[in-house]
Amino acid sequence: MNGLPAQAWLNTLLVLLQDAQLALLRLWHALGLTGDSHGQPAWPWARRIAGETLLIDLGLARQLAWSLGAVALALLMVFVALAWRRHRGAWLAGAVFALVLAPWPAPSLLLSPAAPTSFHVSPTRFSVNAIARGAEVYTRHCAACHGDDGRGEGPLAAGLSRWPPTLVSPLLARRADGELFWHIVDGMRDARGQTTMPAFGDALGDADTWAVLDYMRRWPQAAAPLPTAVGPRRCHCRIRRCSVERMRPTP
Ligand code: HEC
Repeated sequence: MNGLPAQAWLNTLLVLLQDAQLALLRLWHALGLTGDSHGQPAWPWARRIAGETLLIDLGLARQLAWSLGAVALALLMVFVALAWRRHRGAWLAGAVFALVLAPWPAPSLLLSPAAPTSFHVSPTRFSVNAIARGAEVYTRHCAACHGDDGRGEGPLAAGLSRWPPTLVSPLLARRADGELFWHIVDGMRDARGQTTMPAFGDALGDADTWAVLDYMRRWPQAAAPLPTAVGPRRCHCRIRRCSVERMRPTP
């Protein structure tokens, strides 16, 4: 890990975590333990691993990588203990030791809130038609609050209990499609349960919601160079469905 450039091991770690979560989701779905949400398998848990935090917090990513290494080592030691009777106690003690010594990251930093659609993949493939359709949807339903240019200064903005965020931001660009989709469909609430962003699930179908996301995705890429922790092209080819994918350059 130390010898490799940060991008290489971090990228490997993120791909591994993303693939592991997707594999778990597929397994749960295949076993009938979770159903569908908006046409794709629903993420059944309230949390997921915060890949977007690991991307900017190398210390946390390193802690997690060492802890996963310790888990692998502990499993290996248990395996040896099962196969080799003579020093079984010592191997098992070694496994426990590895787990105790691992620098476990704090769950509150490592995990972030998830939605049933967190791992959904946009079916539009960022097509010209979807972007054009999204532009219409945006003008009709969203611009009054978020502004024509997405900077959050629409005519209704000042009267809201919470100011709409700018949608032209690399921070938003890093978020997973599926979670933005969920917030548009289901709306958002403040800590007291008051609606801050209205739900559009009834007004827009799934296709229009994905389309408006495609339209919005065009802004950050045009407006600001994206962050640098992981090379965009490197990410794009492997980490699909992950927020990291959003760092790709304009196709
Ligand atoms: C009535 C005003 C209003 C309208 C209309 C509106 N929004 Fe919002 N939107 C908000 C506010 C306020 C927030 C911030 C909510 C919060 O942080 O609790 C927000 C947040 C968001 C976010 C950020 C979500 C996140 O995960 O952080 C997105 C994306 C978004 N809106 C997209 C849309 C789209 C797309 C439409 C049109 C289909 C739309 N909004 C219509 C007020 C509005």
